[in-house]
Amino acid sequence: MVKKVTLFYSLLTVAVVALAGIWANELFLEPEKQTFLVGETSHGHHQIELACGTCHQSPFGGGEVLQDACMGCHAKELKAAHDSHPKSKFTDPRNADRLEQIDARYCVACHREHQPDITRDMGVTLATDFCVACHLDIAEDRPSHEGMGFDTCASAGCHNFHDNRALYEDFLLQHVDEPDMAATPVIAAMQAYVNAQQPAPKQAPAPDYPEASFQVTEIEKQWLHSAHATEDSNCSACHGEGEQFKAQPDALVCVDCHQPQAAGFLIGKHGMRLAVKREAAESYPLNPSLKALMQPDARLLTPMTPAQGRLPFKADVHGESLTCNSCHGAHEYSLGTSASVDACMGCHDDGHTNQYKASPHYAQVLREAAGEVPAGSGVTCATCHMPKVESEEEPGVFHTLHNQNDNLRPNEKMVRSVCLDCHGLQFALDSLADPALIDNNFQGRSKVSIESIQMAIERVKE
Ligand code: HEC
Ligand code: HEC
Ligand code: HEC
Ligand code: HEC
Ligand code: HEC
Ligand code: HEC
Ligand code: HEC
Ligand code: HEC
Ligand code: HEC
Ligand code: HEC
Repeated sequence: MVKKVTLFYSLLTVAVVALAGIWANELFLEPEKQTFLVGETSHGHHQIELACGTCHQSPFGGGEVLQDACMGCHAKELKAAHDSHPKSKFTDPRNADRLEQIDARYCVACHREHQPDITRDMGVTLATDFCVACHLDIAEDRPSHEGMGFDTCASAGCHNFHDNRALYEDFLLQHVDEPDMAATPVIAAMQAYVNAQQPAPKQAPAPDYPEASFQVTEIEKQWLHSAHATEDSNCSACHGEGEQFKAQPDALVCVDCHQPQAAGFLIGKHGMRLAVKREAAESYPLNPSLKALMQPDARLLTPMTPAQGRLPFKADVHGESLTCNSCHGAHEYSLGTSASVDACMGCHDDGHTNQYKASPHYAQVLREAAGEVPAGSGVTCATCHMPKVESEEEPGVFHTLHNQNDNLRPNEKMVRSVCLDCHGLQFALDSLADPALIDNNFQGRSKVSIESIQMAIERVKE
């Protein structure tokens, strides 16, 4: 361990010395340059890779320090997922023998960083058959598993390492023989949310912007027709009062008034850069001359832009900052398909996105808009990627989950939060297991059939 720490520290020193020299300017003035990284970071973290201190909270930090960093950001979601392999399972002396090959008490045993050559989906840096290290005897306990390769355990619709909320036996058995399509394909939470929208009749106050040379007629009109036309969310709430009026409000100006939305936004791929604190860089052993480059009140990382992304994006938006306004344009701040379809399609440019408008789900959105089917029957991008969730503080109140990554991977997470409102479990698992259906945004039927439910039924008979 001592040797590892020393090596780690010397490598860090090398990195820092290198940084301080030629690349000093690039680091903070052009943070996109990645030349000095020890190796490209994973899909999940590439946006914050230059904020070394978010993970390396101390220069001497090996296992435990990194572990604290990982848990600082991920503990809540793993807990919510009823993590099937939490650390507590491995600190149990009865399982000590299992740790000889993989020390699963530590995240970095399976999720290393800066190792692009060995990094698979979801930042996993182990071979696909690693379950064998601890479950070699599975076929003895479960004859149904005889002859299965260990590289198939965690394939679609079977098991996940952490999140098995849609895959454990009792759950599978509760959903036996469900029809492909529910009798009333409506998302209950969505319906509750829509029903709760009652624009209260209001007397809009006079807008309180300072007299200035700019033309605001159009802005004023939009604001007057928006939910913000109140004394509390007057122009000054976002722009500052009188002399302080700033034409470009801060990217985080919305946060205080819309906390549930901001909380989600800041922990997903759209807003994660804005959540990085300056201290994260300062705690890392930076050369003092580098620190001097950092302005006292400058936020460490600027908002994400499509140009910095690893996914395909429409060419004309590459330079745009991703903020709340990307989906809720100033000053209309509208909801509906403008936020839940048009905004998304204005940026994303992959096959899945571009096929969406040809899908049966979009046809349902059009029927909903025409009043042919009840509110909550349409399936927009946001229905799947930003479902409605009930507030913990105020039961009965639903808001939109603003973290697009919350149910994204492994994709079985989407089964419970979304598909099951309208489809049977077998249909949903099969659909999500067929990559071709994801590519064409769910046009047609799955070519794959997942056996998990059948296996659970047979297990009960045994
Ligand atoms: C998202 C978290 C994260 C960020 C951000 C991050 N690292 Fe790392 N880094 C890791 C992990 C995890 C390891 C692997 C530790 C292990 O294998 O025990 C690592 C390993 C290293 C190592 C040791 C190399 C090795 O092969 O063991 C160095 C040096 C390093 N990082 C430097 C940096 C620098 C410099 C930055 C910023 C430019 C940075 N890291 C940003 C998570 C991160
Ligand atoms: C500053 C907060 C932060 C720290 C520290 C951090 N992560 Fe993350 N991590 C994120 C965010 C944000 C994402 C992207 C959104 C998502 O996938 O949930 C992410 C993504 C991931 C993913 C990929 C998920 C996917 O779908 O591709 C894995 C795995 C992961 N983190 C593990 C770790 C491990 C292990 C550590 C410690 C070495 C760590 N994280 C440290 C915030 C953090
Ligand atoms: C023994 C290996 C192993 C260890 C240890 C491990 N993971 Fe994972 N992790 C995986 C695998 C495999 C996946 C891929 C998805 C799956 O099978 O659940 C994954 C996926 C993830 C994801 C993204 C998807 C999800 O399920 O939410 C996150 C975030 C994550 N791990 C964080 C962590 C953190 C934080 C730790 C440490 C507390 C950790 N992991 C420890 C193997 C591991
Ligand atoms: C480092 C050892 C280790 C590794 C690697 C490991 N497991 Fe486990 N797993 C355990 C232990 C310990 C338990 C709890 C005791 C038991 O059921 O054997 C467990 C339990 C389970 C369970 C029962 C779940 C529950 O909630 O009770 C499943 C399913 C499972 N593992 C699947 C997997 C899969 C799939 C992989 C590979 C992606 C894997 N495990 C990798 C140690 C491990
Ligand atoms: C809820 C917050 C909010 C409120 C309330 C608000 N604005 Fe804005 N305003 C913004 C944001 C955010 C931008 C930046 C928009 C962008 O970059 O797309 C902006 C931009 C502007 C601009 C610059 C436009 C341009 O094209 O450069 C003007 C002028 C302006 N607002 C005037 C007003 C006036 C006048 C009011 C009151 C009638 C008002 N705003 C109310 C958030 C707000
Ligand atoms: C001073 C508080 C305040 C600020 C700052 C603020 N809002 Fe609002 N916002 C409100 C209130 C109050 C409502 C109406 C009630 C509600 O929906 O929460 C509202 C409603 C909304 C709605 C729903 C619109 C509708 O038609 O129902 C959106 C979207 C929105 N705000 C986005 C933003 C964005 C984006 C920003 C930052 C540019 C922002 N807000 C800044 C107070 C604020
Ligand atoms: C201003 C452009 C923009 C808009 C608008 C936008 N996105 Fe994104 N989206 C991005 C960027 C940039 C990323 C991060 C890509 C990366 O880190 O490589 C991203 C990431 C994502 C991810 C995570 C992808 C992954 O692999 O982890 C999902 C899912 C997503 N967006 C869905 C949506 C949906 C749904 C909407 C509409 C409700 C939307 N986006 C609107 C630019 C945008
Ligand atoms: C990727 C697009 C996207 C981004 C970015 C985004 N929103 Fe939203 N927002 C939505 C969608 C979609 C809805 C739900 C629309 C509907 O159901 O009609 C929504 C709904 C809302 C609502 C209405 C209440 C609710 O929870 O449904 C508010 C308020 C809001 N957003 C504020 C914000 C704030 C503040 C930010 C920045 C922290 C933000 N949004 C960023 C897409 C986005
Ligand atoms: C019926 C549900 C559903 C609808 C509707 C939907 N998606 Fe997806 N989306 C998924 C699933 C499932 C995945 C794949 C997750 C996985 O397996 O990695 C995905 C993946 C993505 C990704 C990540 C791609 C990547 O390579 O990382 C983005 C970005 C995305 N969707 C955007 C959108 C946009 C934009 C729309 C609307 C035009 C949309 N989605 C409509 C379910 C949906
Ligand atoms: C709000 C209800 C709703 C939700 C949620 C929903 N769907 Fe659908 N889905 C429908 C409707 C309605 C159709 C169209 C049926 C028709 O036209 O016959 C459909 C069609 C489909 C089809 C095409 C079937 C065919 O025969 O062409 C697939 C595949 C599909 N959905 C998968 C999914 C998956 C996977 C999810 C979850 C990620 C999901 N759906 C979420 C309502 C929903």
